[in-house]
Amino acid sequence: MQILSLLSKKRSGGTLSKEEIEYIVNGFVREEIPDYQMASLMMAIFLKGMSKEEIIHFTQALALSGEVINWTGIEGKRIDKHSTGGVGDGTSLILAPLVAAAGISVPMICGKGLGHTGGTVDKLESIPGFKTNLPIRQFIEQVGRIGIAIIGQTNQINPADKKIYALRNATATVESIPLIASSIMSKKIVEGVEGLILDVKIGRGSFIKKKTRAKKLAAFMVEIGKVFGIKTIALITNMDQPLGEMIGNALEVKQAIDILKGKGPRDIKELVFHLGSLMLMTGKKVRNIKEGEKVLKELIEKGKALEKFKEMVIAQGGDGQIINNPDKILPRAKKRIKIQTLESGYLQSMDAREIGIATMLLGAGREKLNDQIDYAVGIQLHKKVGDRVEKGEPVATFYVNNEKKLPLAQEMFLSACKIDRKRARKISLIYEEIR
Ligand code: URA
Repeated sequence: MQILSLLSKKRSGGTLSKEEIEYIVNGFVREEIPDYQMASLMMAIFLKGMSKEEIIHFTQALALSGEVINWTGIEGKRIDKHSTGGVGDGTSLILAPLVAAAGISVPMICGKGLGHTGGTVDKLESIPGFKTNLPIRQFIEQVGRIGIAIIGQTNQINPADKKIYALRNATATVESIPLIASSIMSKKIVEGVEGLILDVKIGRGSFIKKKTRAKKLAAFMVEIGKVFGIKTIALITNMDQPLGEMIGNALEVKQAIDILKGKGPRDIKELVFHLGSLMLMTGKKVRNIKEGEKVLKELIEKGKALEKFKEMVIAQGGDGQIINNPDKILPRAKKRIKIQTLESGYLQSMDAREIGIATMLLGAGREKLNDQIDYAVGIQLHKKVGDRVEKGEPVATFYVNNEKKLPLAQEMFLSACKIDRKRARKISLIYEEIR
């Protein structure tokens, strides 16, 4: 096989066979195919798409690029959740310990921030000492012992997705249905989960803007789940405005701890309880959403979910004191700057994408493959769509270390917030379920 002829085949809209896909993915992992050729293939897939069979073969090739986890001898149902990416979407940080506290095992493999969106790996790495690159043996042992472990792709676990994920981020090839579906589902195949709940985001801050495309992506992933024996349910949810109040790595960890203590913003809690209930239903712990929400709320009230979060932090190298004193343990930005609006009225919209980019400009995300991120910085929202704001009242606080791009971030943030005198409706979060 010849890589150049495979690239031109895909560039002209041809279909790659299973063997051709395996040749490319394995060659890339072995560094026989360089980044620039893989980037060229990513762009060709972005522009020309892939058939259903190609997506399944690509997903399988990614999953088999490293080791697949063998759970023999480890008890318990394994269920996971994955989001297609959003702004302020720290649900995994809350959901994983919460559901593990209910007796379901959550072996979660996730990723770093992509584009303007945040990533669970970066958020957890903001906790000093926290390791997201556990060897497989330790990952299995930890899930068996405490029912939860959250890691990223490593050189041992899905190395192909690890490399391709970073490459897509730097080559404007993230927003592609075949590439998103295969990236997410390959990680879930490697985990060896029995059930999976997907949060497919749609709207300004999502990689998918239209409902028809979100449904197509959801349907593809549900189908891939079926092919690989993973019972998969997808929830289509809104991502027009950021979720919750915090956007930024350490800030989202702090918010997660607040929510696990029974506090925190309403919208992210609504989503966590819904997704968590679906996880419990898939694991046959409850019969419906109502029962699930009751169980999950009790686990928070009794402090069990917070305790599980602490167990995970300690098991992965962090300091368990984080739950008592997050401000002492987490990195803190040097400055807090209040952002005020120039007019009074009701917040009509808050463009999640622009706000995500403003957060990146403060240093919370990467523009290039090896950019260092600043875990401490980010944006705290004081108002959400539908809220009344008065001229001069702060709508947000910026947490800042480096002020170089602050004026641009400020300008982007303010132009992302549309204010008008007419009343505005709150955004409804959950649209529909695809099974
Ligand atoms: N999450 C992933 O793991 N991969 C994507 O491509 C998008 C979101």
